[in-house]
Amino acid sequence: MADMSKRSDDHRIESNPLVIEDSFEGYPLNYFNLPLHYRDDLKSVLIPYGLVQDRIEALASRIFSDLHIHIPEQLICMCVLKGGYRFFSDLVSKIQNENRLRNDRSLPMSLEFIRVRSYVNDHSSDQLEIMGLSDLNVLNNKHILIIEDIIDTGVTMAALKTELEKFQPKTVHVVSLFTKRRKDKKCIFKPDYSGFEVPDHFIVGYALDYNEYFRDLEHICVMKESGIAKYRVTGDDHVE
Ligand code: HPA
Ligand code: MG
Repeated sequence: MADMSKRSDDHRIESNPLVIEDSFEGYPLNYFNLPLHYRDDLKSVLIPYGLVQDRIEALASRIFSDLHIHIPEQLICMCVLKGGYRFFSDLVSKIQNENRLRNDRSLPMSLEFIRVRSYVNDHSSDQLEIMGLSDLNVLNNKHILIIEDIIDTGVTMAALKTELEKFQPKTVHVVSLFTKRRKDKKCIFKPDYSGFEVPDHFIVGYALDYNEYFRDLEHICVMKESGIAKYRVTGDDHVE
């Protein structure tokens, strides 16, 4: 019988994002069970929860086969809070599944949680403050996987990676569940792994928020202009 245990390169799981085209406006809301408190603020369901889960499972498998080569060293899985928490949790648990089910390879992990505050709004700098890890020297000589919800301009992630590299880790990989295809300018950062490339809409759900609302929504949804106006706040610094 054919050996089905290894994928040929042709069948490798794609590390580049699944592209959601501009022409796709999402699924009508009334096909989904959505919380009443948000129904009037949303335009459509862009990516249903189930599809998000399937893509994360595929990413977990690809990351597992690419990064297990570092064993016996641990991979530090670094969650960028708050938006990344659900993706982080699901991705790590799907990598754990791979660890449980495979006898030929394994990928030991440790978990870290950070928040970043960027000062991109004043345009004079793209400084970044990393909170949550009291001593970044622990990253020295380690393998790191940064787990992020969305890369939009790419400025924050470029600054975060540069900052972490100052502590001389052995490797730094970045996985983002979403990358945004911006109309005005090109994103300046390409992650090693990405789940979906989305059109230039503001998306919420699955822990992605708009001013702390909509994290408690399962599906990835596009907001209505009226919803954006309703929850708008003013402020300068941006904490992810
Ligand atoms: N949704 C939520 N958070 C974000 C987005 C978005 O579309 N872009 C950058 N941060
Ligand atoms: Mg984020």
